[in-house]
Amino acid sequence: MTDLVRFGVSLEDDLLKKFDRHIKQHKYTNRSEAIRDMIREELVKKEWTENKEVTGAITLVYDHHTRELVTKVLDVQHDYHACILSTQHIHLDHHNCFEIIVTKGKSKEIEELYQKLKSIKSVKHAGFMMATKGKDLP
Ligand code: NI
Repeated sequence: MTDLVRFGVSLEDDLLKKFDRHIKQHKYTNRSEAIRDMIREELVKKEWTENKEVTGAITLVYDHHTRELVTKVLDVQHDYHACILSTQHIHLDHHNCFEIIVTKGKSKEIEELYQKLKSIKSVKHAGFMMATKGKDLP
């Protein structure tokens, strides 16, 4: 844990009011924690735009009865096996499957994997969450 440093911020009254409403909606108890989170979020985004080693999760919803869809989803995952840590498959009902693919690797490769899975015909929904390895984030 590094030392806490205090710093002053000057900003327009209207902007501060808007910020306070925003942090209240997001259940923050004080401005400092909200600002810390915003800074961390920006730093994680930076890791992604600079093609750093990151982590992330991809979600898919599809009907496994659709012809050849499962094979296609598996083929793409095997092509990217080096950046897939685990895949969890949940049978939602008789037709629909929910898959969570946990990834770690270069951000460009993970984004590519996501685009390839998302663009497979008949995938009902594809979701994407950027995360970090946390190593360079205090
Ligand atoms: Ni299933």
